[in-house]
Amino acid sequence: MGNLCGGKKKQTTHLDKVKKELNGIILTDDQLRRHSQEFLKQINLGLAKKTNAEADVKCFPTYVQDLPDGSERGKFLALDLGGTNFRVLVIDLGENFLFRMKSRIYVLPPELTLGTAVQLNDHIAACLSDFIHRHSIASSKLPLGYTFSFPVQQHGLTKGILTNWTKGFNVSGFAGHDVVQLLKDAISRRGDIDIDIVAILNDTTGTLMSCAWRYTNCKVGLIVGTGCNACYVERTENVELFTGDRSKPYMIVNTEMGALGESGGLDYLLTDYDLAVDKTSLYPGKQKGEKMMSGLFLSEVIRRILVDMVEKKLLLNGEMPEKLLHKDAVQTHYMSDIEASKEKGSQKDCERLLKDLGARTVTKQDCEVVAYVCELVAMRSAHLAGSAISTIINKMGFKDVTVGVDGSVYRYHPHYHDYMMSVMTKMIDKGTKFEMVLSNDGSGRGAAIVAAVAAKEHGH
Ligand code: BGC
Repeated sequence: MGNLCGGKKKQTTHLDKVKKELNGIILTDDQLRRHSQEFLKQINLGLAKKTNAEADVKCFPTYVQDLPDGSERGKFLALDLGGTNFRVLVIDLGENFLFRMKSRIYVLPPELTLGTAVQLNDHIAACLSDFIHRHSIASSKLPLGYTFSFPVQQHGLTKGILTNWTKGFNVSGFAGHDVVQLLKDAISRRGDIDIDIVAILNDTTGTLMSCAWRYTNCKVGLIVGTGCNACYVERTENVELFTGDRSKPYMIVNTEMGALGESGGLDYLLTDYDLAVDKTSLYPGKQKGEKMMSGLFLSEVIRRILVDMVEKKLLLNGEMPEKLLHKDAVQTHYMSDIEASKEKGSQKDCERLLKDLGARTVTKQDCEVVAYVCELVAMRSAHLAGSAISTIINKMGFKDVTVGVDGSVYRYHPHYHDYMMSVMTKMIDKGTKFEMVLSNDGSGRGAAIVAAVAAKEHGH
């Protein structure tokens, strides 16, 4: 385009040069439309029995067919395994959406996330026993909801086979086995507690259920945290993998959308940074969508870009801090921290990051570059999340939908919600009302609600 002002041509700033280099990370409307089409195609492949094996997104039936109606009451135990920590909770669902919750975070020693199934399950059972004794609830045999946030092929509400690990876990002897049975075996090895596991669920399902307890039109659960995934309410007739009673019209489906792109359908979006992150990850070629969206991988994408910027002499005057060359040297929280401090006109978090990495002199310009990189990477993630949720909402066809969302990236990034909304307002069919609501503690309270709905179903 010509120079409309007719004045002097604007000088290219340092940041302009950076922007030019990183242009490929900004997604165009066309790219997002293609992303949405690919996602819809993969959802349909996943739902159909004949094509499920070749689908990227497996669309697992969750066996959760009833949404809560707010009348769920009682005391439940919940386990939450899916990230760096492991939690045990006891939740009392009461009148008027009030609930009481006591929880304890148990550290998950990193070696257990790469060890054997027996070691991990013995640890979980030990924590459960500790919790139950601390709270003197050993004699009550409370129903337990187990939030296990990895891809699980469910064969019932209390039976689910782990298909593969994600998010940095790689525990042997787990994939191909029933996750509930493995835990029950560990509990009986101890012999000191008696537990009634009434449901296994994904954190997205917990998020949807937790939100639906209050918002009856909540039909989608989204997590953008360490990992990324969404579930939604699908017509039972479309869920061909479901083997149970088909008389109920709807079922929550766990898309496992983090795997989108595994068959190459998102290759047109991948930058050299993404390719490098994938290649050096624990599971190359897997979870390609998640690698562009979730906290665990975004920090690696950011690190790779920063390395490139230093190499191109666009950052730190070309002086490479040695630490920056190491995988995972950039911690995930920086992306949100930097954006939050930028809001307040401060560069302190950019400076802290560069100093932590060992940079000797950090200029204002360096901080601008870092902040810009973080913004781009977060924005791309949010735009992809927005496109994915729009696809789901359009597919479901409900005219008024609430999306329950949780996860550290969505929760702590000051603009993530707005970035998503900017895409959703363009992509969601006109005439459909929608909103996104931060869903509190899906993995804990959601597990209790799933357990409560299951208990109601079985006449408890
Ligand atoms: C897992 C999903 C989970 C998501 C968010 C992904 O890596 O495969 O099951 O819902 O992370 O925790």
